[in-house]
Amino acid sequence: MPVTTNSADTTGLGTIERGAGRVQVDDKAMINARADVNQLLPLKYQWAWDKYLAGCANHWMPTEVSMQADIALWRSPNGLTHDERHTIKRNLGFFATSESLVANNIVLAVYRHLTNPECRQYLLRQAFEEAVHTHTFQYICESLGLDEGELFNMYREVPSITDKAAWALNYTQNLEDPDFHTGTPAADQAFLRDLVAFYVVFEGMWFYTGFAQILSFGRRNKMVGIAEQYQYILRDESIHLNFGIDSINQIKIENPHLWGEDFQAEVRTMLGEACELEVAYGRDTMPNGLLGLNSEQCEQYMHFITNRRCAQLGLAPVFGPAENPFPWMSEAIDLKKEKNFFETRVTEYASGSSLDWD
Ligand SMILES: [Fe+2]
Ligand SMILES: [Fe+2]
Repeated sequence: MPVTTNSADTTGLGTIERGAGRVQVDDKAMINARADVNQLLPLKYQWAWDKYLAGCANHWMPTEVSMQADIALWRSPNGLTHDERHTIKRNLGFFATSESLVANNIVLAVYRHLTNPECRQYLLRQAFEEAVHTHTFQYICESLGLDEGELFNMYREVPSITDKAAWALNYTQNLEDPDFHTGTPAADQAFLRDLVAFYVVFEGMWFYTGFAQILSFGRRNKMVGIAEQYQYILRDESIHLNFGIDSINQIKIENPHLWGEDFQAEVRTMLGEACELEVAYGRDTMPNGLLGLNSEQCEQYMHFITNRRCAQLGLAPVFGPAENPFPWMSEAIDLKKEKNFFETRVTEYASGSSLDWD
């Protein structure tokens, strides 16, 4: 007889059922599980555990990165053009609050409804990484002496940033209702929409224009400290994205009735809308282009990324064939943890048994 929690006990904090049968691996499920969420073993989803280990092996802190060169360049009256400063500030302003939005969605909306202990183990790690990312923007703000009110209010004051945050919040607001529970097709689909909005769109599409911008500065030896930090954030985010994709695909396997043609069409519409919002953000942050980047290339890049996300979810592409205009971004994403993309230093941050020196 499988261990059952009482019906509302997706928290793992309900009354213990003394002498209940032991958890069998087949009792575990991504959503609406009947198995005790406090028991990590036996593992069912090796991919979730592997991502937890990968996240731990990539541990870093923003304060390990020197900001001296960035501070000197930022303070130098002729160090950066007006357009470059505009791009950097809008870029930082988007990320500064987005990291907290993503963290709040994980902790307050996703965690409760993803009823698998190895996935929750990963979510705990991811939540900490989002805290590290938010810390990064605090550290950059303090180092460069930026106006913190300006930076942290952009998501309310700059329409191209507000539009993105407001779009994503539509999907998490359904879940933060204390009476929301998964277990009906409509509720389970609401949960899936939240995973798409945050993992696939927010972390898997909307961060990428920003990454391309700042890594372009780094490639030209400008703002190398921030560029190095973004490189580490990008490495973390690529695992976050892949965790989200694997989670959605596993939920599909276990609940094929949720992934009908209408719902697939809805997800493709979501990705198309998200792409439009990102293209508008690209134009707003780079009205005149800079550092060999322009908003047309960013639009093409976003079409490429959107089609790629569709393929990862098993959906038909939203756009016609789109080449990646920034092939060097793939190099940055695939980076081995030991080596810094910009070769300013060799990164030796790894921990415990995962430490290796190749
Ligand atoms: Fe993040
Ligand atoms: Fe993330």
